[in-house]
Amino acid sequence: MAWSLTIVTTCLIVGLGILERVIVNHRLSKINGVRASILGGNPITSFYAFFKAGYMHANNRLQENFTNMFANASPSCPHAVELTIFGHRSIMTIDPEHIKALLATNFAHFGKGPRFHRTWEPFLGDSIFTTDGRLWQQSRTLIRPMFVTQRVRDLDILERWTDVLIDKLPGSGQTVDVCDLFYRMTLDAITDYLLGQSVESLDKPNGEFTRAFTQVQRIQMRLAIFAWVVSQRDFLPFNRFVPQEEYRKGIKVLETFIQPFIEATLALTPEQLETRSKSDRDFTFLHHMALFSRDPKVIRDQLMAVLLAGRDTTAATLSWTMYELSNYPEIWRKLRSRVLERVGPHAAPTYEDIKDLTCLTHALNETLRLYPAVPYNVRSCLQDSTLPGKPGQPDIAVLKGDHVLYSTLVMQRRRDLYPPVSENFADPAVYSPERWEHWTPKPWQFIPFNGGPRICIGQNFAMTEMAFTLVRLLQRYERIEYRGDWAAQYLKADIVGCPGLGVPIALYEAKW
Ligand code: HEM
Repeated sequence: MAWSLTIVTTCLIVGLGILERVIVNHRLSKINGVRASILGGNPITSFYAFFKAGYMHANNRLQENFTNMFANASPSCPHAVELTIFGHRSIMTIDPEHIKALLATNFAHFGKGPRFHRTWEPFLGDSIFTTDGRLWQQSRTLIRPMFVTQRVRDLDILERWTDVLIDKLPGSGQTVDVCDLFYRMTLDAITDYLLGQSVESLDKPNGEFTRAFTQVQRIQMRLAIFAWVVSQRDFLPFNRFVPQEEYRKGIKVLETFIQPFIEATLALTPEQLETRSKSDRDFTFLHHMALFSRDPKVIRDQLMAVLLAGRDTTAATLSWTMYELSNYPEIWRKLRSRVLERVGPHAAPTYEDIKDLTCLTHALNETLRLYPAVPYNVRSCLQDSTLPGKPGQPDIAVLKGDHVLYSTLVMQRRRDLYPPVSENFADPAVYSPERWEHWTPKPWQFIPFNGGPRICIGQNFAMTEMAFTLVRLLQRYERIEYRGDWAAQYLKADIVGCPGLGVPIALYEAKW
C-alpha cells in the first residue's frame, strides 16, 4: 500500500513537472526571448531551493542565499535565474539593466499585481503601495504635494523629536541600544507629521500602538512569503503558520488609534480645511487628504501606507549609520568638525545647512549603498514582456503572472559594478563616505529609493530627517564607541533590513 502510494505520488509530481514545462515552453515560444538559468529544474529541486530560501531567511542568511543563487547561472545571463513552484514562475535578478526595465523602461508591463494586493489589502487597503494603474496614479498625485521641498523645509517636528531622543540617551559613556531609540523616534515624528499628534513611543515604549505596529508588520511579512509560494491566501496548510487572529487584532488597534483623528478632520468643512492649508504649522497630511476625499477608508489606507513607508526605513538607515560610524572614530570626528563649522555647537540646523553639509549626504549614501533599507523587492508581470539580455545575447522572456524578485542589497554589493580599489576608492565592501567625493554611481547601480515612476516619494523627507538627527548627535557628542561584538552584526531582513543585534553604543558628551 505504502509503496503504491509512493509510486503514484512520484508519478504525479513528475507528471506535473512535465506538464508545467510543456505549458510554460509553449507560452514562451510566443515571445521573442529565452529563459534565464533554471534553479529548480523539477518540482523536487524547486521545493528544495524554496525551503532552503525559507531556512536561510529564518537564520538571517538570506543575502548569502540570494548571492549564491547566481553561482551556477549561465555565462550568457550571469545575474538572473528562475524557479517554478506550484506552477508559478519567479525570476530572481541582480542586474541593473533588468531592474531598470522593471521599474522604468517596461514600467507598464510590471506592477504590484493582484496577488500582492490581495495579501496586503487587510493592512494597507487600496493605497499607493498596493495598487497599480489608475488607482496608484491617483494615490501618487494625492500624496506627492505633502512631500514637496516647501513642506519638508519645516523642521519643527524633527527638532521636537530629536530633542526628546537626546533626552532619552543615558549619560556619557553609558551603553544604549540606539537602534531601539531610532525606531521609537521615527514613529513619533511620522505620526506627528501625518496626524498632528504623536504616539509618543519614546515616552511609552510598550504602548499598544507601537506593539501592534511591529506585530502586524511581522505577520504581514510571513503572509507575503506564503503568498509568493501559493496564489490563494486561504491555502490551508500554509495558513496555519500565520496567526490570523493576532494580525486582525493588531490592525484593529492601529485603526482604533487613527480613527478619531480621521473623524475630527472630516468634521471640518472644506472651507475650514482650505483656511488651514494656508498655514504650514496646523496643516497635516490628514487635512491634506481630507481636501481631496471625504471617504474615511481612502484616508485610512493612505495613512497606513505612509506610516509604514516612513518609519522603519529611516530608523534602520540611521541605525546602520551609527553602527558604521562607531567603527570609524576618525569619520565621526571629521563629520563633527564640519557640522560645528557650519552650524555651531547648539543651534538647530536649517534646511540649507543640511543640504550644504554634503559630507552627511555622503555618509548616508554610503549607508544606503551597503544597507539599502528595502533589501529585496518584487514585481508581478502584468503582460508578457522581456528583460534585456547582455550585449549580443537574447532578451529574457517574462510571462504574464510571473514574479520578478530583485535585490538592491545584493546588486549594490556586486564588486564588478565598482571601479578598481585605489587611493580615492576604498574596497566596495568597506564603509567609506569619502569615496562619494570622487565617484558617482552609474545609473541604476545605486537605487536605495528605487527609480522610475514609482521612486520613493519620501526621499527628501527621509534624507532631511536622517541628516537632522545626525547633526544633533554630532553637535552634542564628541566620541562614539561600540559596546558589543561589532563583527558579529548581521542584517535581519523583513520588509526593511535592520541590524539584527541592535546597535549598542556609548556616546561621550563634548565639554564646552
Ligand atoms: C531611508 C529611507 C527610505 C528608503 C530607503 C525608502 C525606499 C523606498 C523604496 C525602495 C520604495 C519603493 C517600494 C516599491 O515600489 O516596491 C519606496 C516607496 C515609497 N516610499 Fe520610501 N523610503 C524611505 C523613506 C520614506 C519616507 C520617510 C516616506 C514618507 C514619509 C516614504 C514614502 C514612500 C512612499 C509613499 C512610497 C510609495 C511610492 C509609490 O509606490 O509610488 N519613504 N521607498
